Amino acid sequence: MTDLSTRRFLQRVGMLAAGLVLAACGKQEPPAPAPVASAPEAASAPAPAPAKVYTVGTDAAYAPFESQNDKAEIVGFTIDVMSAVAQKGGFEVKFVNTPWEGIFNALQQGDRDMLASSITITDERKQTMDFSAPYFDAVQLIAVKQDSKVAKFDDLKKMKVGVQTGTTGDEVVTKLLGKTSANVKRYESTPLALKELEAGGVDAVVADNGVVIHYVANNPGAQFKTVADASFVPEQYGFAVKKGNAELLALVNKGIADIKADGTYDKIFAKYFGAAPAAAAAASAASK
Ligand code: ARG
Repeated sequence: MTDLSTRRFLQRVGMLAAGLVLAACGKQEPPAPAPVASAPEAASAPAPAPAKVYTVGTDAAYAPFESQNDKAEIVGFTIDVMSAVAQKGGFEVKFVNTPWEGIFNALQQGDRDMLASSITITDERKQTMDFSAPYFDAVQLIAVKQDSKVAKFDDLKKMKVGVQTGTTGDEVVTKLLGKTSANVKRYESTPLALKELEAGGVDAVVADNGVVIHYVANNPGAQFKTVADASFVPEQYGFAVKKGNAELLALVNKGIADIKADGTYDKIFAKYFGAAPAAAAAASAASK
C-alpha cells in the first residue's frame, strides 16, 4: 500500500466507525445503560400500577379473631378473611393494632381506612360508619368460675360483671344492671376482664362467644365454665369503613361474596373453628 492509499483506507474505516456510532445513537434514544443483571419485570411489559394499600385498624387482643403471635404479627380469623377479601379485590391491606376504645374515632378521623375487629353491626354504629356484608355470626356468652351457681343472664343482676368497654357485651350488661351500676366493671380488653374473673375481682364476664370459648379452652387453669342464655340476640360481625366510602365498601363486599362463592371463606372458617359454617351451625343446633 502506498502512503496515500493507507491514509484513505484509514479515513474510510474512520468514517465507517463514526457512521456506526451515529446509527447506534439514532436507534437507541437515550442510550441504553450497560447491561447489568436485570430484574425480571424489566424484561416484561410496563409494570401494572401498584395496588392501593389500605390501613386497617384492629384491636389485636381478641383471639382467635385478631391477636398478636409471638413474632408480634397480627393474626386470626378476621385477619385471614380480610386478607382474602383484599386479594380478590386487588388491593393491599396493612393491619395496625388499634386500641378498641379509640378505634371508631380513628376511622372517623381518617387515620384508618377500614376496621376489621370483630365489630358487631348495630343500628347505632351504622349512624356513624358504614358496614360491609356480615362475615361472622356471634352471640354473647357468660364466663364464670366452674363452681359458680350462675345459670342464666338474669342471675348476674346483683353481681360484679366484667366487660370490655364499649362492646356489645358492655351494652347488654349495662342494660341488665342499670346505667349507674357500680357493679359493671369495664376493662380495656376482653382478656383483661377474663383475668380479673380468674383473680376473683368480678363474678362473671360477658363477651362474644368465640373469644370466651377460645379463652376457656386455652386456660384450663382458670377453671371457667360458660353459660349461654337465649335472651342474647344474634350478632353479626362486619368490616367498617368511613361513612360514605362507597368505593371501598363495594370492593370489600365484592370480595366477601367472591370468597364465599369459591370456598375460600369455608376453608378459613374450618381452619379456626373446625368445620364449615353450615356444619358448625347444624352441630350447635343439634346439641341444644
Ligand atoms: N363484637 C363486639 C362488639 O362489636 C366486641 C368486639 C371487640 N373486638 C375487639 N377486637 N376487641 O362490640
